[in-house]
Amino acid sequence: MSAVSRPVVFETIAEIRDTIAAERRAGRTIALTPTLGALHEGHLSHVRRTAELADIRVVSIFVNPTQFGAGEDLAKYPRDLESDLRLLGPLGVAFVFAPTEAEMYPAGPTETKITAGKIGALYEGAARPGHFDGVLTVVAKLIDIVMPDIVSFGQKDAQQLYLVRRMIDDLNLPVRVEVIDTVREADGLALSSRNRFLDAKERRAARTLSTALEAAAASADRGIDAALAAAQAVFMGEPLVKLDYFKIVQPASFVPVDDNYRGKAMAIVAATLGETRLIDNEQVYLNS
Ligand code: PAF
Repeated sequence: MSAVSRPVVFETIAEIRDTIAAERRAGRTIALTPTLGALHEGHLSHVRRTAELADIRVVSIFVNPTQFGAGEDLAKYPRDLESDLRLLGPLGVAFVFAPTEAEMYPAGPTETKITAGKIGALYEGAARPGHFDGVLTVVAKLIDIVMPDIVSFGQKDAQQLYLVRRMIDDLNLPVRVEVIDTVREADGLALSSRNRFLDAKERRAARTLSTALEAAAASADRGIDAALAAAQAVFMGEPLVKLDYFKIVQPASFVPVDDNYRGKAMAIVAATLGETRLIDNEQVYLNS
């Protein structure tokens, strides 16, 4: 019986850099999937997809403190490196970069930061001030450390994806973004590491987010007001879900569509169930 391989884990920047440099000298291409760990099928779909695109896959596992605000769930964010490695091994992931906080931020949070700008202050950024500055700064560091040809990001975090793409364009970073579709439970709930915090009642109610998105998508041919009203009606029927925002935005600029907008748009939603904040999104088509 052959033993299942296990990714080689690097904790230091110097070691992963040396290793990647050797792979490059050998002519191999590199894909990076940045994660906070607590891996689930959604993350695994990244590494399955990047297997088709690059010779060597690197997964970074780092619960980045600078993207969590005061009072957020940094301390209770699930951390289980061994279980993450058990999931990645059978999928042939070569390397895991799992630095300590001291390795990434030896002098505390960096003085130099990437700022996410106006769009970074909306939606998730309004609820979590500074969140996207922390995300973009750590993503820029990870790209600089691993220097991948391809970096994968999930469609589920649509605003993060938008901002990362814009950073890569703005700063001319030599990396291609591969977008990975959202993986869902049978009832439509988007997979998230935070779903594990939902109790049974909250878990049942959590399907409301994807149901509302579907209702908006199904009504969008009657215009934006009809789409928003359809989503609103779904939330009215579920008191456990505290809606933060439900918006329809232009994919190219991430600003809310106006009444004259026609074409592909994106419905984005965030809501809290108990203590757990969930987000989701879906493409909608506005044609009247
Ligand atoms: O989406 C995430 O898991 C995180 O925001 C990321 C991209 C790994 C940065 O810490």
